[in-house]
Amino acid sequence: MEILGIDVGGSGIKAAIVNTETGELISNKHRLKTPQPATPEAVATTIQKQIKHFKWTGIVGCGFPTPLQHGKCLTGGNLHENWKGVLVNELFKNKTGNDFYIVNDADAAGLAEINFGAGRAKKGVIIMITLGTGIGSAIFVDSKLLPNTEFGHVLNKDGIVFEKYCADSIRKNEKLSFKNWGKRLNEYFKHVNLLLSPDLFIVGGGISKKIEKFKSLIKIDTPIVAAEAENEAGIIGAALAAKFEIK
Ligand code: BGC
Repeated sequence: MEILGIDVGGSGIKAAIVNTETGELISNKHRLKTPQPATPEAVATTIQKQIKHFKWTGIVGCGFPTPLQHGKCLTGGNLHENWKGVLVNELFKNKTGNDFYIVNDADAAGLAEINFGAGRAKKGVIIMITLGTGIGSAIFVDSKLLPNTEFGHVLNKDGIVFEKYCADSIRKNEKLSFKNWGKRLNEYFKHVNLLLSPDLFIVGGGISKKIEKFKSLIKIDTPIVAAEAENEAGIIGAALAAKFEIK
């Protein structure tokens, strides 16, 4: 089955056609900048441009970077406050005419890794953590997703939301060395490890390519590996979510 996967992020909106049987991209990846401000109308216009680029008439799976419940934004996340309460699939369908399945972006990345990547054929509790503009989480038990978890929003010892302390955007904005950023990540992973005792952590987001620069600073017994599909996991998983009709 071929499905258009779209990954909406804080800085880019990426899309490609995905073969959902193999998890491979069967088109080039097309990236457009996330409009600023990222209001619902502005983002819907960029989504429409992606649909036109691919001349796509079929269903679309879309990873979305806000807390969601049944496709409705609970907050605007790192996009824009006007997203709160928006049913994303309806907005995008009205704009494009296509049927959309909306899934949290970290859940999408996790689905790709569980089906085709670092979590393939593994039992137990697996947690995907995406490090990008924010921090996203996806939790799987024997390959089954517990949707819409928000483990980027737990607090550190100073009461600061971890995503504002050690997302990759914080490393960049505060010009942190990998050593100093790694110390923060160590606090974060120790905390999540204590809360959930997983069997495996998979790290996603663009920075997962450079996992060797910070992995040794994370002092937990649970294994940590990089997402095999790297930054494409979000697109592949968005298409899978549409196939599985995950909401
Ligand atoms: C949002 C999550 C999202 C993560 C990564 C967080 O700010 O609350 O829903 O998965 O950013 O984009």
